[in-house]
Amino acid sequence: MSKSMKVAIVDDEKDMRQSISQWLALSGFDTETFASAEDALRGLSPDYPGIVVSDIKMPGMDGMQLLKKLKSVDSTLPVIMITGHGDVPMAVEAMRVGAFDFLEKPFNPDRMTELAKKATQARRLTLDNRALRRELSDGSALMKKLIGASQPMEQLKEDILDLGQADGHVLIEGETGTGKTLVAHALHAVGGRASKKFVLISCSAYDEETLGRKLFGPMDDDGDLPAYEEARGGTLVLEDIEALGQGMQARLLTAINDQGTPAETRIVAICNLQDEGKTCESVLRPDLFYRLAALRMTVPPLRQRGEDILSLFARLSEQFADEYGCDAPEVSAQEAAQLLQAPWPGNVRQLINVAERAVLQNRRGSGTIASLLMADSDETRPTMTTEGKPLKEFVEAFERMLIDNTMRRHKGSIVGVMDELCLPRRTLNEKMAKYGLQRSDYI
Ligand SMILES: Nc1ncnc2c1ncn2[C@@H]1O[C@H](COP(=O)(O)OP(=O)(O)OP(=O)(O)O)[C@@H](O)[C@H]1O
Ligand SMILES: [Mg+2]
Repeated sequence: MSKSMKVAIVDDEKDMRQSISQWLALSGFDTETFASAEDALRGLSPDYPGIVVSDIKMPGMDGMQLLKKLKSVDSTLPVIMITGHGDVPMAVEAMRVGAFDFLEKPFNPDRMTELAKKATQARRLTLDNRALRRELSDGSALMKKLIGASQPMEQLKEDILDLGQADGHVLIEGETGTGKTLVAHALHAVGGRASKKFVLISCSAYDEETLGRKLFGPMDDDGDLPAYEEARGGTLVLEDIEALGQGMQARLLTAINDQGTPAETRIVAICNLQDEGKTCESVLRPDLFYRLAALRMTVPPLRQRGEDILSLFARLSEQFADEYGCDAPEVSAQEAAQLLQAPWPGNVRQLINVAERAVLQNRRGSGTIASLLMADSDETRPTMTTEGKPLKEFVEAFERMLIDNTMRRHKGSIVGVMDELCLPRRTLNEKMAKYGLQRSDYI
């Protein structure tokens, strides 16, 4: 990135804005000025290619509020605050809220330049890193397969990118059908071992003796390598690790201990115990557990993913509709509430089933989503839950679904959607950006 970094200067006093701007421009920065915090907020995007210098005392929104707002949009954006001379409490508060640093009035120009240089360096690093990560996550088809934009899913994707780069063994935990196997594939695909073998063995699929041969040999066929060897340099996924008997646990431990670091064979162990309320820690011998759990991640249950339930349902039913050559069902507000509140003990796998059956029902023209959810439940009535889910989450999920449906019906015509939902263009644009909806996807 050789382009010069920007500095956004926010100050209600014109003279002050201009003198800071002139000084920094002389030092080689590309400056722009804003006369109020409100203007600055409108002008600064989350990937702003630069830093912010802001006065604290301003009419309307003050610098401290601006700092908080900016930090909530992009927590890594460096913001330098200008405080009154000797106003220690204000300076302390600014640092606490996450300011990069502060400058006292009247400011020393050299100190200003020095701070701006440090801040832009930090900013450049963040943006480079971010671009790299985006490339990785865009580049991997598997990351794209992981549908979901809820906070727990965003966190999961971050974890995959982080742990994918690391070299330690990984333990993946999570309820049945949450996507653990998919996550193991993604971990391999985004990391440095992507070009090497990915070998998956289910520990519950064989008796102890067969499993031993599959993992460590000797193999029946001379041409075949045992899984542990085959995955050398790559990733060995051990599903249902909780099913590993004492004998196999000991052999695996020895094999792991014999490896150098970084490990030749990276092990990704998947534990499927959460449904029973037991933990992986309680069934594996401790020395093996701690080797495998060097890095740990938990795939969240579907009921904690809020709005993802509706977007997953929409995507899946569209896929099935394509497959069966019919229309995807439109989800009513009431049905959306039922989907959001269902307990989903079978998680994503159960949702896939429900979506498929909903499409088939729709083709026949009979049946409701509620009855599908009921069929999956042991009780006569589906157990609905709002446990721990804030109202805001429901409302946002509805809103997203409505805009998504309407966009689809109007084949991406913004005017059509504005009309139907009685939304001004700007509000619609803002909401689409917020929910990650893109017009080009509907045309
Ligand atoms: N976030 C997601 N987006 C889209 N599809 C998903 C997602 N998570 C899981 N799936 C799909 O759901 C199904 C179940 O996922 P997966 O087999 O990875 O779950 P699992 O946790 O390994 O289940 P089990 O506990 O039975 O081994 C798969 O078809 C997978 O592709
Ligand atoms: Mg699995």
